[in-house]
Amino acid sequence: MYSEIIKIIEGGLKKDTKKVFGYAKMLAEKLKKDGEAKLAETILAIIGKGYASTVTMDQLLTTPVDHESRLDIADVFVPGNENEEIILTKPVEQKVFDFVNTIKHKKELRGYGLTTPSTLLLYGLPGGGKTSIAKKISIETGLPLVIARFDAIVSSLLGNTAKNIRKIFEFADQKPCILFLDEFDAIAKARDDQYELGELKRVINSLLQNMDQFSQENILIAATNHQELLDRAIWRRFNTVIEVAYPGENEIKALLYSFTETYKTKIFNDPKQLEAVVKLLQGKSPSDIKNIVHNAIAYSVINNKKFLEYIDLLNGIYQFDHHGAISMEELTNFLNQHGITQSEIAERYEISIRQVRNFLNKQ
Ligand SMILES: Nc1ncnc2c1ncn2[C@@H]1O[C@H](COP(=O)(O)OP(=O)(O)OP(=O)(O)O)[C@@H](O)[C@H]1O
Ligand SMILES: [Mg+2]
Repeated sequence: MYSEIIKIIEGGLKKDTKKVFGYAKMLAEKLKKDGEAKLAETILAIIGKGYASTVTMDQLLTTPVDHESRLDIADVFVPGNENEEIILTKPVEQKVFDFVNTIKHKKELRGYGLTTPSTLLLYGLPGGGKTSIAKKISIETGLPLVIARFDAIVSSLLGNTAKNIRKIFEFADQKPCILFLDEFDAIAKARDDQYELGELKRVINSLLQNMDQFSQENILIAATNHQELLDRAIWRRFNTVIEVAYPGENEIKALLYSFTETYKTKIFNDPKQLEAVVKLLQGKSPSDIKNIVHNAIAYSVINNKKFLEYIDLLNGIYQFDHHGAISMEELTNFLNQHGITQSEIAERYEISIRQVRNFLNKQ
């Protein structure tokens, strides 16, 4: 069975030429070993020159797979020139910057006998930017990010989890990279599931041992939404810990700028409107804010408006907070309370002014 064929099909469907080239090359090598020299040559001829130019060593990766589920237990993010801006509070930004610097100056620091490992734990509510920070660190250091998927690693088959953990660390050990243990709490959650306590202890111990060995030479980042599930033995392994909190007023403004960069909006010219939107967005994650803003822009584009308008942002916020289950009466009152006139409401929702007044009088 040539598992490369599956990878080539996957690559083709995802239009991932690097993957197709990489696995086609591996398939050719295997076929050659198995005495199918002619077929191997045909494959190499097809991928021809494209191969040399598009695939670098780092991209030639066979990521490990969980034997039972056949799921990939790691993804590899190869930093390119992505330029997604992430907005962080000043202290978080500073800590990330410091961490990147210790990686960049590792050799120099060693020269002074400073051998502190580069281990980082990111924790905080969902959608706050933990995964994005790991990618940013990968981009800034130029090191590929091996993203270990802990949900897939914690296999339902007893004994497989320890094997999967070993596989991941062996894989990441092959070349300079950053190992990113995402959804790290999955390992601790296993406690409630099918594991016997003894088995779980063994798994966690093997994880800790692997982490210790790995982090002597390499960079390790872990992320979790459930920091309360991690025990002290795990916390101790990380010499930088960052809480990725939800954005405050300044960050929300910066996020609004960033998410509307490709589309005109007048909201920044009106301090009162801006203030109202910022207030309404407090307590939401950057990921939610992005969704709200992008939905509002989409509405604006589809309806041939030239600008992203205040009313559409308010509409998006209301819809988000009510999961789309909207009551026209409530929405009308919400908009009106935030300074939208009766005629603007009537026009936006194609209802009569009388209807708008009715809604407003009811409450
Ligand atoms: N601080 C931020 N600045 C700009 N965009 C952000 C920020 N945080 C999140 N986003 C946007 O939200 C998306 C999801 O964020 P991300 O996956 O990094 O969050 P997370 O903290 O890893 O969430 P989870 O806990 O669910 O894994 C990102 O792709 C990005 O577009
Ligand atoms: Mg994440």
